[in-house]
Amino acid sequence: MLTGRRLLLAVTGGVAAYKSAFLARRLVEGGAEVKVMLTESALEFVGPQTYAAITGSQPHVALFGEDMVSPHTELARWCELAVVAPATAATLGKLSAGISDNLVVSTLLATKAPVLIAPAMHTEMWEHPATRRNMETLRGYGYIVVGPETGALAGGDEGIGRMSEPEAILEAIETALTPSGPSLRVLVTAGGTREPVDPVRYLGNRSSGKMGHAVADEAARRGHMVTLVTTSALPTHPAVKVVAVETAEEMLQAVEGTPADVAVMAAAVADFRPTTSGAEKIPRSQGLESIPLSPTPDILASVVARQPRPVVVGFAAETGDVERAVEKAKRKDVDLLVYNDVTEPGSGFGTDTNRVVVIDAGGGTEQWPLMTKSEVAAKLLDRALGMRVSDRP
Ligand code: PMT
Repeated sequence: MLTGRRLLLAVTGGVAAYKSAFLARRLVEGGAEVKVMLTESALEFVGPQTYAAITGSQPHVALFGEDMVSPHTELARWCELAVVAPATAATLGKLSAGISDNLVVSTLLATKAPVLIAPAMHTEMWEHPATRRNMETLRGYGYIVVGPETGALAGGDEGIGRMSEPEAILEAIETALTPSGPSLRVLVTAGGTREPVDPVRYLGNRSSGKMGHAVADEAARRGHMVTLVTTSALPTHPAVKVVAVETAEEMLQAVEGTPADVAVMAAAVADFRPTTSGAEKIPRSQGLESIPLSPTPDILASVVARQPRPVVVGFAAETGDVERAVEKAKRKDVDLLVYNDVTEPGSGFGTDTNRVVVIDAGGGTEQWPLMTKSEVAAKLLDRALGMRVSDRP
Protein backbone atom coordinates (compact mmCIF):
# COMPACT_ATOMS: atom_id res chain seq x y z
CA MET A 1 0.00 0.00 0.00
CA LEU A 2 2.74 2.46 0.96
CA THR A 3 5.38 1.19 -1.46
CA GLY A 4 6.62 4.00 -3.66
CA ARG A 5 4.03 6.50 -2.39
CA ARG A 6 5.29 10.08 -2.07
CA LEU A 7 4.41 11.38 1.37
CA LEU A 8 5.18 14.81 2.79
CA LEU A 9 5.28 14.93 6.59
CA ALA A 10 4.96 18.38 8.18
CA VAL A 11 6.03 18.55 11.81
CA THR A 12 4.99 21.62 13.79
CA GLY A 13 6.02 22.77 17.25
CA GLY A 14 4.46 20.59 19.90
CA VAL A 15 5.84 18.03 22.30
CA ALA A 16 4.13 15.30 20.22
CA ALA A 17 6.74 16.02 17.52
CA TYR A 18 8.82 13.15 18.91
CA LYS A 19 6.00 10.75 17.96
CA SER A 20 6.11 11.90 14.35
CA ALA A 21 9.66 10.51 14.15
CA PHE A 22 8.14 7.06 14.83
CA LEU A 23 5.51 7.80 12.21
CA ALA A 24 8.23 8.70 9.67
CA ARG A 25 10.00 5.44 10.46
CA ARG A 26 6.83 3.38 9.98
CA LEU A 27 6.15 5.10 6.66
CA VAL A 28 9.69 4.41 5.44
CA GLU A 29 9.46 0.78 6.64
CA GLY A 30 6.22 0.49 4.64
CA GLY A 31 8.14 1.47 1.50
CA ALA A 32 7.00 5.10 1.19
CA GLU A 33 9.25 7.89 -0.01
CA VAL A 34 9.06 10.44 2.79
CA LYS A 35 10.08 14.09 2.80
CA VAL A 36 9.84 16.13 5.97
CA MET A 37 9.15 19.82 6.64
CA LEU A 38 9.75 21.30 10.08
CA THR A 39 8.57 24.64 11.42
CA GLU A 40 10.98 26.78 13.42
CA SER A 41 9.11 25.85 16.60
CA ALA A 42 9.28 22.13 15.77
CA LEU A 43 13.06 22.54 15.98
CA GLU A 44 12.60 23.34 19.69
CA PHE A 45 11.35 19.77 20.17
CA VAL A 46 13.17 17.62 17.57
CA GLY A 47 16.30 17.90 15.45
CA PRO A 48 16.44 17.74 11.65
CA GLN A 49 19.14 15.10 11.88
CA THR A 50 16.67 12.61 13.39
CA TYR A 51 14.44 12.87 10.32
CA ALA A 52 17.38 12.91 7.92
CA ALA A 53 18.59 9.62 9.41
CA ILE A 54 15.12 8.04 9.27
CA THR A 55 14.05 9.19 5.81
CA GLY A 56 17.40 9.45 4.06
CA SER A 57 16.83 13.04 3.01
CA GLN A 58 17.42 16.35 4.75
CA PRO A 59 14.21 17.95 6.15
CA HIS A 60 13.09 21.32 4.79
CA VAL A 61 12.69 24.23 7.15
CA ALA A 62 12.94 27.52 5.31
CA LEU A 63 10.79 29.16 2.69
CA PHE A 64 13.87 30.91 1.31
CA GLY A 65 17.54 30.02 0.91
CA GLU A 66 17.18 26.26 0.42
CA ASP A 67 18.72 24.38 -2.51
CA MET A 68 15.35 24.41 -4.25
CA VAL A 69 14.31 27.48 -6.24
CA SER A 70 10.78 27.38 -4.84
CA PRO A 71 10.60 24.78 -2.05
CA HIS A 72 6.91 25.24 -1.24
CA THR A 73 5.64 24.70 -4.78
CA GLU A 74 8.11 21.91 -5.53
CA LEU A 75 7.17 19.98 -2.38
CA ALA A 76 3.48 20.75 -2.95
CA ARG A 77 3.62 19.25 -6.45
CA TRP A 78 5.81 16.33 -5.47
CA CYS A 79 3.60 14.82 -2.75
CA GLU A 80 0.63 12.47 -3.13
CA LEU A 81 -0.49 13.14 0.43
CA ALA A 82 0.58 15.74 2.99
CA VAL A 83 0.42 14.82 6.68
CA VAL A 84 0.66 17.40 9.45
CA ALA A 85 1.60 15.66 12.71
CA PRO A 86 1.49 17.20 15.17
CA ALA A 87 -0.69 20.08 13.98
CA THR A 88 -0.57 22.87 16.55
CA ALA A 89 -3.31 25.43 17.19
CA ALA A 90 -1.08 28.08 15.54
CA THR A 91 -0.67 26.06 12.34
CA LEU A 92 -4.39 25.22 12.21
CA GLY A 93 -5.17 28.93 12.61
CA LYS A 94 -2.73 29.99 9.89
CA LEU A 95 -3.97 27.28 7.55
CA SER A 96 -7.63 28.10 8.00
CA ALA A 97 -6.92 31.80 7.46
CA GLY A 98 -4.47 31.21 4.59
CA ILE A 99 -1.53 32.93 6.32
CA SER A 100 1.43 31.51 4.44
CA ASP A 101 4.29 32.95 6.47
CA ASN A 102 6.33 29.75 6.75
CA LEU A 103 7.27 26.79 4.57
CA VAL A 104 4.72 24.38 6.08
CA VAL A 105 1.65 26.56 5.60
CA SER A 106 2.81 27.84 2.19
CA THR A 107 3.29 24.27 0.96
CA LEU A 108 -0.06 23.09 2.32
CA LEU A 109 -1.81 26.01 0.65
CA ALA A 110 0.01 25.29 -2.61
CA THR A 111 -0.67 21.56 -2.77
CA LYS A 112 -3.52 19.88 -4.61
CA ALA A 113 -2.82 16.62 -2.75
CA PRO A 114 -5.12 15.60 0.10
CA VAL A 115 -4.05 16.89 3.50
CA LEU A 116 -4.35 14.87 6.71
CA ILE A 117 -3.95 16.65 10.03
CA ALA A 118 -3.34 15.21 13.49
CA PRO A 119 -4.01 18.04 15.96
CA ALA A 120 -2.19 18.15 19.30
CA MET A 121 -2.52 20.78 22.01
CA HIS A 122 -3.75 21.39 25.52
CA THR A 123 -7.44 20.79 26.20
CA GLU A 124 -8.20 24.47 26.77
CA MET A 125 -6.67 25.36 23.39
CA TRP A 126 -8.53 22.55 21.62
CA GLU A 127 -11.82 23.64 23.14
CA HIS A 128 -11.32 27.37 22.48
CA PRO A 129 -13.93 28.75 20.05
CA ALA A 130 -11.14 29.96 17.73
CA THR A 131 -9.76 26.43 17.36
CA ARG A 132 -13.28 24.99 16.97
CA ARG A 133 -13.95 27.47 14.18
CA ASN A 134 -10.62 26.77 12.48
CA MET A 135 -11.28 23.03 12.57
CA GLU A 136 -14.73 23.56 11.05
CA THR A 137 -13.14 25.59 8.25
CA LEU A 138 -10.46 22.98 7.57
CA ARG A 139 -12.99 20.14 7.55
CA GLY A 140 -14.98 22.22 5.09
CA TYR A 141 -11.90 22.34 2.84
CA GLY A 142 -11.95 18.54 2.86
CA TYR A 143 -8.96 18.05 5.18
CA ILE A 144 -8.85 14.63 6.81
CA VAL A 145 -8.67 14.90 10.59
CA VAL A 146 -7.24 12.22 12.89
CA GLY A 147 -7.72 12.71 16.63
CA PRO A 148 -6.91 14.26 18.98
CA GLU A 149 -7.35 11.67 21.71
CA THR A 150 -7.96 11.94 25.42
CA GLY A 151 -5.00 11.09 27.66
CA ALA A 152 -1.80 12.43 29.20
CA LEU A 153 -0.71 15.86 27.97
CA ALA A 154 2.47 17.90 28.42
CA GLY A 155 3.25 19.12 31.93
CA GLY A 156 1.46 16.23 33.66
CA ASP A 157 -2.01 17.34 32.54
CA GLU A 158 -4.76 15.01 31.36
CA GLY A 159 -7.57 15.59 28.85
CA ILE A 160 -8.49 15.78 25.20
CA GLY A 161 -5.75 17.16 22.94
CA ARG A 162 -3.22 14.33 22.83
CA MET A 163 -2.01 13.55 19.30
CA SER A 164 -3.22 10.19 17.99
CA GLU A 165 -0.65 7.42 18.16
CA PRO A 166 1.51 6.87 15.04
CA GLU A 167 -0.29 3.55 14.38
CA ALA A 168 -3.67 5.32 14.18
CA ILE A 169 -2.26 8.02 11.90
CA LEU A 170 -0.64 5.35 9.74
CA GLU A 171 -4.00 3.61 9.39
CA ALA A 172 -5.65 6.88 8.35
CA ILE A 173 -2.86 7.49 5.81
CA GLU A 174 -3.41 4.04 4.31
CA THR A 175 -7.16 4.69 4.10
CA ALA A 176 -6.53 8.05 2.45
CA LEU A 177 -4.28 6.41 -0.13
CA THR A 178 -6.73 3.59 -0.85
CA PRO A 179 -8.85 4.33 -3.93
CA SER A 180 -12.22 5.30 -2.50
CA GLY A 181 -14.93 2.68 -2.51
CA PRO A 182 -18.21 3.01 -4.32
CA SER A 183 -20.31 6.06 -3.70
CA LEU A 184 -23.09 5.03 -1.31
CA ARG A 185 -26.68 6.27 -1.21
CA VAL A 186 -26.95 8.00 2.16
CA LEU A 187 -30.35 9.03 3.51
CA VAL A 188 -30.42 11.46 6.43
CA THR A 189 -33.39 12.85 8.35
CA ALA A 190 -33.05 16.07 10.32
CA GLY A 191 -34.96 18.66 12.30
CA GLY A 192 -38.13 18.52 14.36
CA THR A 193 -41.44 17.75 12.74
CA ARG A 194 -44.30 20.22 13.15
CA GLU A 195 -47.77 18.75 13.53
CA PRO A 196 -50.55 21.25 12.76
CA VAL A 197 -53.23 22.05 15.30
CA ASP A 198 -54.82 24.51 12.89
CA PRO A 199 -53.38 26.62 10.00
CA VAL A 200 -51.55 28.84 12.53
CA ARG A 201 -50.41 26.62 15.39
CA TYR A 202 -48.46 23.39 15.59
CA LEU A 203 -47.02 20.90 18.05
CA GLY A 204 -43.27 20.82 17.65
CA ASN A 205 -39.96 20.32 19.43
CA ARG A 206 -36.59 22.02 19.89
CA SER A 207 -34.59 20.29 17.14
CA SER A 208 -32.69 22.76 14.94
CA GLY A 209 -31.53 20.24 12.36
CA LYS A 210 -27.83 20.94 13.07
CA MET A 211 -26.95 17.33 13.92
CA GLY A 212 -28.60 15.80 10.85
CA HIS A 213 -27.31 18.51 8.51
CA ALA A 214 -23.75 17.93 9.82
CA VAL A 215 -24.09 14.23 8.92
CA ALA A 216 -25.43 15.03 5.45
CA ASP A 217 -22.69 17.59 4.76
CA GLU A 218 -19.92 15.25 5.88
CA ALA A 219 -21.28 12.36 3.77
CA ALA A 220 -21.44 14.68 0.73
CA ARG A 221 -17.88 15.87 1.34
CA ARG A 222 -16.83 12.24 1.18
CA GLY A 223 -18.40 11.92 -2.25
CA HIS A 224 -21.53 9.94 -1.35
CA MET A 225 -24.98 10.54 -2.87
CA VAL A 226 -26.88 12.19 -0.07
CA THR A 227 -30.60 12.85 0.31
CA LEU A 228 -31.49 14.98 3.32
CA VAL A 229 -35.13 14.92 4.41
CA THR A 230 -35.39 17.88 6.73
CA THR A 231 -37.68 20.37 8.39
CA SER A 232 -34.78 22.79 8.81
CA ALA A 233 -33.77 25.62 6.47
CA LEU A 234 -30.08 25.47 7.47
CA PRO A 235 -27.69 25.70 4.49
CA THR A 236 -26.20 22.45 3.17
CA HIS A 237 -23.28 21.23 1.07
CA PRO A 238 -24.13 21.92 -2.59
CA ALA A 239 -24.09 18.21 -3.47
CA VAL A 240 -26.80 17.31 -0.91
CA LYS A 241 -30.26 16.72 -2.35
CA VAL A 242 -32.63 18.41 0.09
CA VAL A 243 -36.26 17.35 0.49
CA ALA A 244 -38.06 19.88 2.67
CA VAL A 245 -40.87 18.52 4.82
CA GLU A 246 -42.86 19.66 7.81
CA THR A 247 -44.85 16.82 9.35
CA ALA A 248 -44.03 13.23 10.32
CA GLU A 249 -46.36 12.02 7.57
CA GLU A 250 -44.51 14.12 4.95
CA MET A 251 -41.18 12.89 6.30
CA LEU A 252 -42.37 9.30 5.96
CA GLN A 253 -43.48 9.86 2.34
CA ALA A 254 -40.11 11.45 1.46
CA VAL A 255 -38.14 8.70 3.20
CA GLU A 256 -40.20 5.97 1.52
CA GLY A 257 -39.39 7.49 -1.86
CA THR A 258 -35.63 7.47 -1.23
CA PRO A 259 -33.50 4.36 -1.76
CA ALA A 260 -30.57 4.04 0.66
CA ASP A 261 -27.53 1.95 1.49
CA VAL A 262 -27.10 3.79 4.78
CA ALA A 263 -29.84 5.69 6.66
CA VAL A 264 -29.04 8.10 9.49
CA MET A 265 -32.22 9.10 11.30
CA ALA A 266 -31.31 12.21 13.29
CA ALA A 267 -34.72 13.91 13.07
CA ALA A 268 -36.78 14.49 16.18
CA VAL A 269 -40.07 13.12 14.90
CA ALA A 270 -43.17 13.94 16.91
CA ASP A 271 -44.59 10.77 18.43
CA PHE A 272 -48.14 12.18 18.36
CA ARG A 273 -50.04 14.59 16.15
CA PRO A 274 -53.40 16.31 16.62
CA THR A 275 -56.04 13.86 15.42
CA THR A 276 -57.80 16.59 13.47
CA SER A 277 -56.58 19.89 12.14
CA GLY A 278 -59.20 22.10 10.53
CA ALA A 279 -58.77 24.59 7.70
CA GLU A 280 -59.82 27.47 9.97
CA LYS A 281 -57.88 29.10 12.81
CA ILE A 282 -59.36 28.13 16.19
CA PRO A 283 -60.54 31.44 17.70
CA ARG A 284 -59.41 32.19 21.27
CA SER A 285 -63.04 32.92 22.21
CA GLN A 286 -63.94 29.30 21.36
CA GLY A 287 -61.45 27.98 23.95
CA LEU A 288 -59.48 24.74 23.64
CA GLU A 289 -59.56 22.45 26.63
CA SER A 290 -57.68 19.57 25.07
CA ILE A 291 -56.17 18.46 21.79
CA PRO A 292 -56.94 14.83 20.91
CA LEU A 293 -53.74 13.15 19.67
CA SER A 294 -53.00 10.14 17.46
CA PRO A 295 -49.66 8.36 17.05
CA THR A 296 -47.46 9.31 14.08
CA PRO A 297 -45.94 6.67 11.79
CA ASP A 298 -42.64 5.18 12.97
CA ILE A 299 -40.35 6.24 10.12
CA LEU A 300 -37.31 4.46 11.52
CA ALA A 301 -39.24 1.17 11.69
CA SER A 302 -40.22 1.55 8.02
CA VAL A 303 -36.52 1.84 7.06
CA VAL A 304 -35.50 -1.10 9.26
CA ALA A 305 -38.20 -3.22 7.56
CA ARG A 306 -36.86 -2.59 4.04
CA GLN A 307 -35.59 -5.47 1.93
CA PRO A 308 -32.74 -5.30 1.19
CA ARG A 309 -32.10 -3.63 4.50
CA PRO A 310 -29.80 -0.58 4.62
CA VAL A 311 -27.39 0.06 7.49
CA VAL A 312 -29.61 2.00 9.91
CA VAL A 313 -28.37 4.54 12.45
CA GLY A 314 -30.97 5.85 14.88
CA PHE A 315 -30.67 8.68 17.36
CA ALA A 316 -32.13 8.73 20.88
CA ALA A 317 -32.87 12.02 22.60
CA GLU A 318 -32.96 11.01 26.26
CA THR A 319 -32.84 12.72 29.62
CA GLY A 320 -30.30 10.73 31.57
CA ASP A 321 -30.49 6.96 31.33
CA VAL A 322 -28.15 5.24 28.84
CA GLU A 323 -29.67 1.86 29.77
CA ARG A 324 -32.99 3.00 28.29
CA ALA A 325 -31.19 3.78 25.04
CA VAL A 326 -29.44 0.37 25.06
CA GLU A 327 -32.87 -1.22 25.39
CA LYS A 328 -34.18 1.09 22.63
CA ALA A 329 -31.35 0.04 20.27
CA LYS A 330 -32.43 -3.60 20.66
CA ARG A 331 -36.14 -2.86 20.41
CA LYS A 332 -35.70 -0.69 17.31
CA ASP A 333 -33.30 -3.24 15.77
CA VAL A 334 -30.89 -0.57 14.51
CA ASP A 335 -27.23 -1.12 13.61
CA LEU A 336 -26.13 1.86 15.68
CA LEU A 337 -28.03 4.11 18.07
CA VAL A 338 -26.61 7.50 18.99
CA TYR A 339 -27.66 8.47 22.49
CA ASN A 340 -27.55 12.10 23.52
CA ASP A 341 -28.65 13.49 26.87
CA VAL A 342 -30.63 16.57 25.88
CA THR A 343 -30.44 18.00 29.41
CA GLU A 344 -26.65 18.12 29.40
CA PRO A 345 -25.10 21.55 28.63
CA GLY A 346 -23.56 21.61 25.14
CA SER A 347 -25.54 18.53 24.03
CA GLY A 348 -28.75 17.80 22.19
CA PHE A 349 -31.10 20.42 20.77
CA GLY A 350 -29.83 23.56 19.07
CA THR A 351 -26.20 23.32 20.23
CA ASP A 352 -23.14 23.28 17.96
CA THR A 353 -21.63 20.49 20.07
CA ASN A 354 -22.81 17.10 21.27
CA ARG A 355 -21.65 14.46 23.71
CA VAL A 356 -22.91 11.07 22.58
CA VAL A 357 -22.79 7.41 23.48
CA VAL A 358 -22.84 5.13 20.45
CA ILE A 359 -24.63 1.83 21.04
CA ASP A 360 -24.19 -1.08 18.66
CA ALA A 361 -26.61 -3.86 17.76
CA GLY A 362 -25.06 -6.15 20.37
CA GLY A 363 -25.64 -3.56 23.13
CA GLY A 364 -21.95 -2.49 23.26
CA THR A 365 -21.48 1.17 24.19
CA GLU A 366 -18.80 3.73 23.31
CA GLN A 367 -18.75 7.11 25.04
CA TRP A 368 -17.36 9.92 22.88
CA PRO A 369 -16.08 13.21 24.34
CA LEU A 370 -17.86 16.52 23.78
CA MET A 371 -17.25 17.37 20.12
CA THR A 372 -18.70 19.68 17.51
CA LYS A 373 -21.63 18.17 15.65
CA SER A 374 -19.41 18.06 12.54
CA GLU A 375 -16.87 15.99 14.44
CA VAL A 376 -19.57 13.65 15.76
CA ALA A 377 -20.86 13.32 12.18
CA ALA A 378 -17.41 12.46 10.83
CA LYS A 379 -16.69 9.87 13.53
CA LEU A 380 -20.16 8.38 13.12
CA LEU A 381 -19.78 8.06 9.36
CA ASP A 382 -16.32 6.48 9.80
CA ARG A 383 -18.19 3.74 11.61
CA ALA A 384 -21.49 3.52 9.76
CA LEU A 385 -20.15 3.69 6.19
CA GLY A 386 -17.78 0.82 6.87
CA MET A 387 -20.58 -1.42 8.18
CA ARG A 388 -22.37 -4.08 6.28
CA VAL A 389 -25.72 -5.42 7.36
CA SER A 390 -24.00 -8.82 7.38
CA ASP A 391 -21.85 -7.48 10.29
CA ARG A 392 -24.92 -7.69 12.54
CA PRO A 393 -24.61 -10.13 15.46
O1 PMT B 1 -31.40 19.03 15.50
P1 PMT B 1 -30.47 19.46 16.63
O2 PMT B 1 -30.90 20.75 17.26
O3 PMT B 1 -29.02 19.45 16.17
O4 PMT B 1 -30.59 18.36 17.79
C1 PMT B 1 -30.15 17.05 17.56
C2 PMT B 1 -31.10 16.01 18.15
C3 PMT B 1 -31.12 16.13 19.68
C4 PMT B 1 -32.52 16.20 17.61
C5 PMT B 1 -30.56 14.62 17.68
O5 PMT B 1 -29.26 14.44 18.15
C6 PMT B 1 -31.44 13.47 18.17
O6 PMT B 1 -31.31 12.96 19.27
N1 PMT B 1 -32.40 13.04 17.29
C7 PMT B 1 -33.41 12.01 17.62
C8 PMT B 1 -34.49 12.62 18.47
C9 PMT B 1 -35.62 11.66 18.74
O7 PMT B 1 -36.66 11.82 18.21
O8 PMT B 1 -35.33 10.64 19.53
P2 PMT B 1 -36.40 9.46 19.83
O9 PMT B 1 -35.75 8.68 20.91
O10 PMT B 1 -37.74 10.02 20.11
O11 PMT B 1 -36.48 8.61 18.50
C10 PMT B 1 -35.64 7.47 18.26
C11 PMT B 1 -35.38 7.34 16.77
O12 PMT B 1 -36.59 7.04 16.08
C12 PMT B 1 -34.81 8.58 16.10
O13 PMT B 1 -33.84 8.14 15.17
C13 PMT B 1 -36.01 9.21 15.40
O14 PMT B 1 -35.62 9.92 14.22
C14 PMT B 1 -36.84 7.98 15.05
N2 PMT B 1 -38.30 8.19 15.02
C15 PMT B 1 -38.99 8.55 16.14
C16 PMT B 1 -40.36 8.69 16.09
C17 PMT B 1 -41.03 8.44 14.88
N3 PMT B 1 -42.36 8.59 14.80
N4 PMT B 1 -40.33 8.09 13.79
C18 PMT B 1 -38.99 7.96 13.83
O15 PMT B 1 -38.37 7.63 12.83
